[in-house]
Amino acid sequence: PTIYAVTPTYSRLVQKAELVRLSQTFLHVRKFHWIVVEDAANRSKLVAEILAQSGLVYTHLSVPTPTIHKLKESDPNWLKPRGVEQRNLAIQWLRENRELSEEGVVYFADDDNTYSTKLFDEMRWTKRVSVWPVGLVGGLRFERPLVEGGKVVGFHTAWKPTRPFPMDMAGFSVALQLLLANREAKFDINAERGYLESSLLQSVVSIEELEPKANNCDKVLVWHTRTEKPKMKQEDALLKQGKGSEVHIEV
Ligand code: UGA
Ligand code: MN
Repeated sequence: PTIYAVTPTYSRLVQKAELVRLSQTFLHVRKFHWIVVEDAANRSKLVAEILAQSGLVYTHLSVPTPTIHKLKESDPNWLKPRGVEQRNLAIQWLRENRELSEEGVVYFADDDNTYSTKLFDEMRWTKRVSVWPVGLVGGLRFERPLVEGGKVVGFHTAWKPTRPFPMDMAGFSVALQLLLANREAKFDINAERGYLESSLLQSVVSIEELEPKANNCDKVLVWHTRTEKPKMKQEDALLKQGKGSEVHIEV
């Protein structure tokens, strides 16, 4: 099966660094197809060039998040769900460009997380939905599904534990066939905070059907890392003197 990794991404100072790092992780994964969806009206040259030079099989798409759902600079980052329209566009692209007979698995890989290449060996043979622990998330060292007799029987999580699927986006993969067969399955942009993952999973799988990976969910192979916003205090000061860093040099 091919692994389709879906990455929503948006323009910001650290974007190139995030995407270069991610692409170089993904180069270590065989039978891999990267679907990068920009949160923008158009595809950017910056992202197009990273992809063209990456050596990966990829698809480059874009769709802007509608203004009413978009975070403002002053908003706390948790106020609105992120990357929703972008992931849904990728699902739609798969429905339009892939056959039900194709073996594949879909993973929603945000651009800022840290992925062990071993994670991809775990998810590749997903029948419906595979699950595993995610490190550094939910205010805990890790969150993870609890497994008994090879079945998921609950979740180690502290934040909103009553959610139907109290898991981070990085903690599951979905069989391609399942997304193609359930034509209405998608992420709900109006989902309450923390319920985004559940909004998709609820329509395609039950807890009993989840396939625990990573040694019965005993191993952390993905980390919900977040990149600090770089300070531009000196840049702003130099800019005022007309001596800012050269604009023709891409960062
Ligand atoms: C957590 C989860 O890990 C995300 O998968 C989930 O989408 C998010 O919460 C949510 O509640 O919506 P967090 O680290 O807070 O993630 O979110 P970000 O990493 O800032 O954003 C998730 C993805 O969406 C990233 O790939 C990011 O590049 C993208 N994004 C973010 C956009 O496409 N547009 C934006 O305006 C912001
Ligand atoms: Mn993130």
